Amino acid sequence: MTDKNFYVTTAIYYVNERLHLGHVYEFVLADVIARYNRLLGKETFFLTGTDEHGQKVQRAAISQGKVPQEFVDYMSGEVKKLLEYFHISNDDFLRTTQKRHKKVVQKLFQKLWENGDIYKGKYKGLYCIFEENFLTESQLVNGKCPECGRDVEWVEEENYFFRLSKYQNKILKHLEKNPDFVTPKTRRNEVVSLLKQGLNDISISRTAFKWGVPLPFDEKHVSYVWVDALINYVSALGALTGGEKFKKFWPANYHIIGKDIIRFHAVIWPALLMSAGIELPKTIAAHGFLLRGEEKLSKSKGIVLDPYKIGGKYGVDPVRYFLLREIVFGNDGTYTDEIVVNRFNSDLSNDLGNLVSRVLTMVEKYFNGEIPAKDESHELDSQLQGSWEDSLENYLKNMNILNFRESLIAIWSFVSKANWYVDKTEPWSLNKNEEISKLKTVIYNLCESLRLLAIFIYPIMPVAMEKLWTQLGIKDKISSSKIPQALKWGLLKPGTKISEIYPLFPRIEK
Ligand code: ME8
Ligand code: MG
Repeated sequence: MTDKNFYVTTAIYYVNERLHLGHVYEFVLADVIARYNRLLGKETFFLTGTDEHGQKVQRAAISQGKVPQEFVDYMSGEVKKLLEYFHISNDDFLRTTQKRHKKVVQKLFQKLWENGDIYKGKYKGLYCIFEENFLTESQLVNGKCPECGRDVEWVEEENYFFRLSKYQNKILKHLEKNPDFVTPKTRRNEVVSLLKQGLNDISISRTAFKWGVPLPFDEKHVSYVWVDALINYVSALGALTGGEKFKKFWPANYHIIGKDIIRFHAVIWPALLMSAGIELPKTIAAHGFLLRGEEKLSKSKGIVLDPYKIGGKYGVDPVRYFLLREIVFGNDGTYTDEIVVNRFNSDLSNDLGNLVSRVLTMVEKYFNGEIPAKDESHELDSQLQGSWEDSLENYLKNMNILNFRESLIAIWSFVSKANWYVDKTEPWSLNKNEEISKLKTVIYNLCESLRLLAIFIYPIMPVAMEKLWTQLGIKDKISSSKIPQALKWGLLKPGTKISEIYPLFPRIEK
């Protein structure tokens, strides 16, 4: 893998239930990262998919009177539809029931087995089916699963175990040498303290049911669903089976996951990879949870955020904007309709939307719909361009460290400056006083500002920004632009005919 290639993944989604806006938040994050890196000219591979094995999914199928395969086929199709609806640009979609995946799972198990890292034992203990997690008595909170608060079950069966304990110090060392292995810092500290407490070996197979990948050295056992699931990140690239993509894209730049599954990704996954002799991913980036008001989303408690309802009401791109603008990466975030409407009306409709329609209307009115060439300069030009330089620097800096909120704040400070430039230069007065050469410059600068803004905002609101480029009359797609080259001031061609103007973000009445 070279610096020219880039690989980003999301968690793979359990298909027991429909996804909610919290899941959407995660794949939008990964999509923004993927689109941004494509703009940077990197050959990018963006993977997502579905986690289809295990007891939780099997039970969901049974409760609907379906055989598991039929059920997961349907549910993974629903996940794909949701990805399309939210303009997600994934390059692949991995399902853990696919042959290509199961083959790699078995190869990897075989490697661990041959390395002597797997031994047979008897598991006697607790299991939370909802989290698909083995638990000890002392981890329980009021007798329930510490993560989801549900009842746990007693499990007593023959299992294979993985020598996780053997990797404790190796992973600690890796974390010391690679400060960015887990981000943000709070999560990294959490992992370090987990490791320092010491690791027990873990059960990695089940015999009580069959809905999983059979182990190559003992077909009575199926893989523990978490091991099966983690392997998706390399099976999609054809690891251990001669896949070209594996050479090209591994190790992953980012595994984007939620904070609830950090232990699986930052402790178990590295140990499995070390045992199999595979390089570790570069960064595990854990986002926070989306809450509805103060409450955790929970279908059983009726606290839901239906992505289609919300997307239908506000538009998909504005919802993407809201998620990135409102939530600090790594922290929990709150959804309420009121916050969305306020953001929409102030940032999108007022600040950006008005700028676009003011500028394009003036092109229509003063120049018959043709973008003028720059002429005599205006004394405020340097302030507009200076603001552009600042925003550019802050944007790039923050995008590179997943500070999407700060990136958007940097962009909007330029939006404000452009609106300020309209107010101060008063193009209508320039027109009235027949200062046409100055007017040309002012209007050109404003159109150029819109071109640049559209590139900036594109990873977050791809469809709306392509529309903005179309309104500006630019024939190329933003998606085929390369930055930083395309971010140079003055690339917009004078003489470009703008096309039909319509509001991108019509105001929402409360
Ligand atoms: O854990 N806000 O799947 P999953 C933000 N199959 N993110 C949320 C969220 C919320 N309210 N609720 C869930 C699994 N998520 C496993 C993953 S990966 C090898 C296997 C996030 O469907 C959650 O943190 O329960 C996780 O990253 C992702 O959605 C999938 O959760
Ligand atoms: Mg979960």
